[in-house]
Amino acid sequence: MFTAIALCVAVFLTTALLSDNLPSGPPDEGELPGMARTHDIELGVAVAVNPLVHDGEYRSVITEHYTSVTAENTMKWQYVQPQRHQFDWSGPDTVVGFAESHDLNVRGHTLLWHNQLPSWLAQGSWSQDELRQIMREHLRALLGRYKGRVSAWDIINEPFEDTSPHLRENLWYRVLGPDYIAEALSMAHEIDPEARLYINEFGIEGGGDKADALHTLVEDLLQRGVPLHGIGFQGHFVHGNVPEDLADHMRRFTDLGLEVSVTELDVRIPEPSREDALEEQADEYRRVVEACLDVPRCVNVTVWGVSDQHSWVPEWFPGYTDALPFDEDYGPKPALSGMTEALSRRPSQRRPHP
Ligand code: XIL
Repeated sequence: MFTAIALCVAVFLTTALLSDNLPSGPPDEGELPGMARTHDIELGVAVAVNPLVHDGEYRSVITEHYTSVTAENTMKWQYVQPQRHQFDWSGPDTVVGFAESHDLNVRGHTLLWHNQLPSWLAQGSWSQDELRQIMREHLRALLGRYKGRVSAWDIINEPFEDTSPHLRENLWYRVLGPDYIAEALSMAHEIDPEARLYINEFGIEGGGDKADALHTLVEDLLQRGVPLHGIGFQGHFVHGNVPEDLADHMRRFTDLGLEVSVTELDVRIPEPSREDALEEQADEYRRVVEACLDVPRCVNVTVWGVSDQHSWVPEWFPGYTDALPFDEDYGPKPALSGMTEALSRRPSQRRPHP
């Protein structure tokens, strides 16, 4: 009798230990892709063509830590169609080819935006029919070429004004009116019915007027049956300002039946950045990944650059620095451990995709 009870206790303990096999310390960073896959999310990184081709260390950081890539610039209109009807596929093909040979997913970025347009397009004076035709040609070229190879596209980028809840009066808006958004999404869906089509926006991560306006727009689009599948929360944060309630704001959109992704995560620190700021930044990265894990239909967290050497932050936000999980020499920063810590949570803590 005593032996039987002892045996039962032993079996129980062993089973409990095996099912609770969380690593005690922070796991090896090299495990990140596997951990992300266990949680059924992608961990992505924005990549630039030049270092991708010429820098082996750059490539290793990507393949050892991430499961998806976004082209930081090379799929933008300015580079893809610098002259009307002249397409340059060298950069996009390099990124997609690299992704395919390393089993990485690709987020396509970006189709309709107000920035990085070629001058022939930005400075042309177009009738509605002409601009529609131009839009169709460009969507067909990009989505057609990478059909089945790029799983999600930022079709509409930054449709609202920087800091107000009004639609931005970009080229598309000025010529076609507010319905350019629905038109582009419908065209894109016709070209690649399998691709997840996104509106990508910034300044919505902590709620507010702009997020509300996007929500209203999205409700209207969905009611009209417009093919929209996801909302990208860019996630360009300033250290100290990463919202505590990011998951709630993402959930407002998944409640409408959409998926969400954090598409361009970085956390910039005012110079000079100190050791304690980097530790706090680790916490901020952890919280962002945890927010995604807390939202069943959050499918991807992408950081905006491979290392601080490649970040857009110093150029675009003078006086800020150190925004990414790897330093200028590819050394892992506390931020990387922050993401790892978030992903160390047991998969059971993530509710399954509905
Ligand atoms: C940025 C790139 O990182 C820079 O290299 C480029 O000079 C300008 O664009 N929102 C977006 C991204 O959707 O495409 C932008 O990327 C950053 C802001």
